[in-house]
Amino acid sequence: MKTALTGIKPSGQPHLGNYLGMIRPALALAQSYRCLYFIADYHALTTLHRGDELRLHTREVAATWLALGLDPERTLLYRQSDVPEVTELAWILSCFTAKGLLDRAHAYKDALAQQREVSAGLYTYPVLMAADILAFGADAVPVGRDQKQHLEMCRDIAQRFNHAYGDLLVVPDALIQEEVETIPGLDGRKMSKSYGNTIPLFLPAPALRKLVMRIQTDSTPVEEPKQPETASVFQLYRQFVGAPAAEPLAERLRAGGTGWAAAKQALVEAIEAALGGARAHYDELMRDTARLEAVLRRGAGRARDLAAPRMERIRRAIGVR
Ligand code: TRP
Repeated sequence: MKTALTGIKPSGQPHLGNYLGMIRPALALAQSYRCLYFIADYHALTTLHRGDELRLHTREVAATWLALGLDPERTLLYRQSDVPEVTELAWILSCFTAKGLLDRAHAYKDALAQQREVSAGLYTYPVLMAADILAFGADAVPVGRDQKQHLEMCRDIAQRFNHAYGDLLVVPDALIQEEVETIPGLDGRKMSKSYGNTIPLFLPAPALRKLVMRIQTDSTPVEEPKQPETASVFQLYRQFVGAPAAEPLAERLRAGGTGWAAAKQALVEAIEAALGGARAHYDELMRDTARLEAVLRRGAGRARDLAAPRMERIRRAIGVR
């Protein structure tokens, strides 16, 4: 069975965009791959400099995966920082990473363009990400389109290493899930923490309802025909129930006589049906820090066992053993 590996940066509370765009498809992948899913806390450190927040978001991400049905016996769930082999490998790989390659990274170039301060950590972010993947010999990396360049850099770094020492590293493939559409946020732009337009995944029902009512819609009056396909509220609804089941609501909106408020109500019910049960489980996990911690530690132990033999071969090859 092939190995799929992916990471989530704990830089905020998980939201519907993370769920629909990444977590839900990744959970489905566990049917056909051996999966390693980890919490990229050292990556979050490039932007998040508050220990209490990093700790909290790390727990939120772990609880989210588990509440949504990740089976930690089948799928390894671990915290990046619990696997020191990854940071060790990151240094080694940095010696096989052309500076020019990092200069071309979108995230780094964006930061420069916005005249934000660039730390060496942000600059070498792609190297740590390559280490995340290469330490485990992952075959496939399910990522969104925004991470495609990082994957190409990982492949480039692996090939340079292999060129020097023989094929020690598995050159991974990106698994870009094209069928997953961009998930719109409250204002119609891509749902993203940096736009402040997210709907957190496990809001209590009344708060969820309030936020959904704030999704922007056009001002077509109730009685007039509407265009469901271009409306965020309908796009989100369709993501939750699937295209065929969303068609009746689309028909009613097109016909006129159904307002956006009714569509929002339908969305609230669809979210509740999909996530209501998981929310209770999530709340329970968030209260039981010791249990979460135990799951993560066990995952890290198994992850280290997986990485150990490959790391030993790498150390020998480069000559530090
Ligand atoms: N950079 C990814 C993101 O921002 C998170 C990530 C870190 C990752 N390491 C990874 C994803 C390794 C896939 C594989 O979404």
